[in-house]
Amino acid sequence: MKVTVSVIKADIGSHPGHQRVHPKTLEQARKSLQKAKRSGKLIDFYVTHAGDDLELIMTHRKGENNREIHKLAWNTFEACTKIAKRLKLYGAGQDLLANTFSGNVRGMGPGASEIEFKERKSEPLLIFMADKTEPGAWNYILYKIFADPFNTAGLVIAPNLHDGFVFEVHDLIGHKKIKLSAPEEIYDILALIGTPSRYVIKRVYTKSGEIAASTSTDRLSLIAGKYVGKDDPVMMVRAQHDFPAVGECVEPFAMPHLVAGGMRGSHNMPLMPVSEKDNHPTRFDGPPRVIGLGFQISKGTLLSPVDLFDDVAFDRAREKASEITDYLRLHGPLMPHRLPPEEMEYTTLPHVLEKLKKRFKKM
Ligand code: F6R
Ligand code: MG
Ligand code: MG
Repeated sequence: MKVTVSVIKADIGSHPGHQRVHPKTLEQARKSLQKAKRSGKLIDFYVTHAGDDLELIMTHRKGENNREIHKLAWNTFEACTKIAKRLKLYGAGQDLLANTFSGNVRGMGPGASEIEFKERKSEPLLIFMADKTEPGAWNYILYKIFADPFNTAGLVIAPNLHDGFVFEVHDLIGHKKIKLSAPEEIYDILALIGTPSRYVIKRVYTKSGEIAASTSTDRLSLIAGKYVGKDDPVMMVRAQHDFPAVGECVEPFAMPHLVAGGMRGSHNMPLMPVSEKDNHPTRFDGPPRVIGLGFQISKGTLLSPVDLFDDVAFDRAREKASEITDYLRLHGPLMPHRLPPEEMEYTTLPHVLEKLKKRFKKM
């Protein structure tokens, strides 16, 4: 029998400002999902947060894009928004862009990543959740895990990984998708995913078609047509045996690569891997944070979340991220710390140009 893991998330308000989900809203989310578990709708759940994003991790037997599960997530976010409004939390209800639920949270504000699979004899599943960045932030990570032999030793020396993987890449602006094969087409894959604001790895499959990884790719700014924050994406990766080992999956996070995010959704900053307790962006509304939880899925139950970056082995990555932040901050409002104009979430540039229009002289 197949199990579905649905991770559905939204920023429904935080404190102080855009830093952290409030304990009272976390408590409400746990209450709502506990009720759904008791009624049999869910097998299991885990509620956490990535900075100011409330994260609902749910297991069930209903498949992807299931109306009941999406409605449960939507109703949970609404119940939490009520509390956020009562407490006057910052940005209360900000990601619930639609007024009423219409069958699926996609396109309504929240982000979702879901996978359905037949549980293996033993099923390690890693869930990564980031704040103050966009779905393209996973491009570097997923490429390293599933296509780079300098990261993943198994691609070279493990017989079940040696064939490589298939990448499903979405064009978020052209609304198209394509499947590309690694290692055969790695230059084409890199040509696309090198533009993470537009081309995003949505799923990774084994060559025999088994799902290996899934990300959320909902771009709030494209949905809302105005600034509503970065998308703060989630990613699930199946590990071990026919998939990369847990250690190969967390290895790319040792390099705090630059991602779009941080202050006003308009800056490049390094992605800092942190423990659950450290996951609230502070300095310059950043650096963008990522947490990783490792579960064993056992008959749909989410066994023993392990806080993957709560480990001294990632201290150096955190130090490096701080050092890179020091250096980038010295650039102040200049690119490439600030994002290029078309990537900024909001800008006064048109107003400045309008104001100065008459003072520009031909040359
Ligand atoms: C929000 C974010 C923050 C805000 C910034 C300004 O997730 O990335 O950097 O953009 O704090 O927020 P407002 O305009 O709400 O004061
Ligand atoms: Mg917020
Ligand atoms: Mg956020």
